[in-house]
This record gives sequence, structure tokens and C-alpha cells, in this order.
Amino acid sequence: MRKQAPSINSSKFEKPRTRQSPRPSAAAAPSRNPILLTAISGLLVGFILYRQIYKKKPSSEDLAPQDFDFSARFNATAGRYDEDVDRVEWWYGITKLRRKLVQQAQGNVLEAAVGTGRNSEFYELRRIASLTLQDQSKEMLEVAKAKWREQHPEYEHCKFILGSAFEPLPLPTRGEMDPPEVDGYDTIIATMSLCSTPGPSLFLRSLAGHLSWRRAAVQDDGGDRVAARILLLEHGRSYFSWLNYLLDRTAAAHAKQYGCWWNRDIGKIAEDSGLKVISTKRKHLGTTWVLELGLPADGKGVKRQQWLEDTRQQMVVLEAEVAQAHVEWKERMRKEEEARRKEEDLEAWRREQREQILKPKGS
Ligand SMILES: C[S@@+](CC[C@H](N)C(=O)[O-])C[C@H]1O[C@@H](n2cnc3c(N)ncnc32)[C@H](O)[C@@H]1O
Repeated sequence: MRKQAPSINSSKFEKPRTRQSPRPSAAAAPSRNPILLTAISGLLVGFILYRQIYKKKPSSEDLAPQDFDFSARFNATAGRYDEDVDRVEWWYGITKLRRKLVQQAQGNVLEAAVGTGRNSEFYELRRIASLTLQDQSKEMLEVAKAKWREQHPEYEHCKFILGSAFEPLPLPTRGEMDPPEVDGYDTIIATMSLCSTPGPSLFLRSLAGHLSWRRAAVQDDGGDRVAARILLLEHGRSYFSWLNYLLDRTAAAHAKQYGCWWNRDIGKIAEDSGLKVISTKRKHLGTTWVLELGLPADGKGVKRQQWLEDTRQQMVVLEAEVAQAHVEWKERMRKEEEARRKEEDLEAWRREQREQILKPKGS
């Protein structure tokens, strides 16, 4: 009778009854040496990274200016965006950070650059008078809309705005002040947004223009309201120069594929915006940033109209710079293409010459 093979589960726990397998021969031994295997794999990975990151010079096509507009990329990837990032965000604890940030939202809330609405499940609706979800990508916003309606079918005070955060926004529809003196939003949330917008400091300045400046003044007058705030969860440069080096080397290719510049200095962007940086926390070797921003000196001394006017002027300068950078980038690409064609023609000519020389005489 044939002996029954042991089941996989049982063999895991029982002592093997069969004869111990013979020791590996001297010739086979090295391939099972874990240290050697690790060293070889390490060298291989190192070599690939060296080729990919250090040796490989990115082409001009990869080096689009940092202010490239990535809306087309987001329109194209909206349908699979969540699937692409869900697992990674969960593993890295980003999902928890989202929850913690968004639960602080109160009053009239704007989520700018909302994307596919990855934060919408975390809002504490009893603290929220109204919610405005805004993005400049139609397809991303459509996903956010469908998600919100599924998650919060009862909630009536949510509206969706297709457009850029740089542009003026309608005021929130439902204010908690009585008589209604709503002049802007109490909380503005933006997550993973500074990596994908041109002029990130100006983006923050524009958000500040949408805040309730009057609310800040109420607090200054001794009121107990929390002044209007911008709450950010972002990713960017690390504490460590070796990691920044890797981020810099790969930034252009990553941006081309995902529409996101992962090597931006979020702290500097916040400082350059002119807003008050109330708190900054960093995780993941410093690459994940959680920031709380307020109006400059909480609105004291700076007039909203002046702020908006300065922001508008800076926008004009940025637009001119972006246009110029694009002209230069296109010119660089044209020259590179010309040089490549010349090189190909020369190579074809050389090949022809070699064939002529090698051709047997008289044929
Ligand atoms: C990387 S996604 C992040 C989306 C979302 N906030 C999240 O946390 O998953 C960046 C989003 O910002 C949007 N965006 C970029 N610049 C914008 C701007 N100036 N105004 C509005 N949306 C913008 C893009 O369309 C895209 O949906």
C-alpha cells in the first residue's frame, strides 16, 4: 500500500520522521549562505540604484519645470488613484494622520485640492456648519462627489466647486455667526496638495485669502472663538541630506509619472507664504509634514484687501516666470532633438562608409 504523504500543516509541527536530508555538498554550500546571498542582493540593488539614480542623466523631457500644471495627469488617473495609494498610505500611517487632522475641522470648512476625497470619511459633521470641496480636476472631483454621497447621504451642507484654489471662491453658504457675518472659511484643509500645484507658496497665500479674517479679529477682541486656520498634511524634503539627494535625483521622473514633486521644502514654502506657522510636526524621516497655519499675526495689522492685492501681483509674476520656464524648456528639448537627429544621421553615414569599404571589389 502506498504511504500517504504528510499534510503541509502537520509536517510544520511534527518532528520529521524521515531521514535528515544530507548536509549540502561543499560546492552547493555557498549558494545557501545567507550572508553571501544578502551581500550579492545588496550589491545588485546598489548597482541598479546607481544606474537609475546616479549614472542615468535625466533627459530634458523628464525635467519639466517645477511649475508644470499636472491637471491632465490627474484627470487621466482619477479612476485608479485611490487603488494606487490606499495600501501605501495605510502602511505608512498616513490614513491615521488624515483622520487626526480632519477631525479638527470646524465651522465653515473648505477642503482645497480635495482630489478623490480621501479625507471625507473623517469629518466630524456635528462640528461642521458647511463643507466645500474644491479641486481643479473634473475627474478627481467627480470621484470625491460620488464618495461623499455614498458616505454621508444625509448631509445637506456640502458643495463641490470645480476650479483652482488660486481663484476667488463663493462664501460659505451657512455660517454659525448670527447675524450672518460670514466673510470666509473657519478651517481650510489641504492634504498632499503642495507637491502638485504650481507656485505652492502662492497656493497657501490664496488659501489664506479664503479664510475668515473677521473671525481672527473676533478672537483678538477677547472672544473665545478659535481663529481661522489652515491645516495641512503634506510630503516633501527630509531631515537627511542622503534622502534629499535621492528625492532630487528622482523627482522629475516621479513628477512626470504621478504629477507630484516629492522634493519640495514644505517648511520653506510655508515661511515664504507670509502666513503664521503655528506648528510643524514631521514624520517618516522628516518627509511627512503636518502644519497648522494662521493669518499673519492672526489678521492684526495686515488688511485683507492688501493681502489679496499682493497675492494677485505675485500671481502675475509667477505666471510670467512659468511661461518663460516653459519656453526655455521647449527650446532645450528642441535642441536636444536636433542633436539626436544629427547623431543618428552621422551614425547612418558611418555605417554606409564601413559597408562600402568592406564590399568585395568588383561586386
Ligand atoms: C496629489 S493629489 C491629492 C489629493 C487629495 N488632497 C489627497 O490628499 O489625496 C493633488 C490634487 O490637487 C489638485 N490641485 C493641484 N493644484 C490645484 C489648485 N491650484 N487648485 C485646486 N486643485 C489643485 C489636483 O487636481 C489633484 O486632485
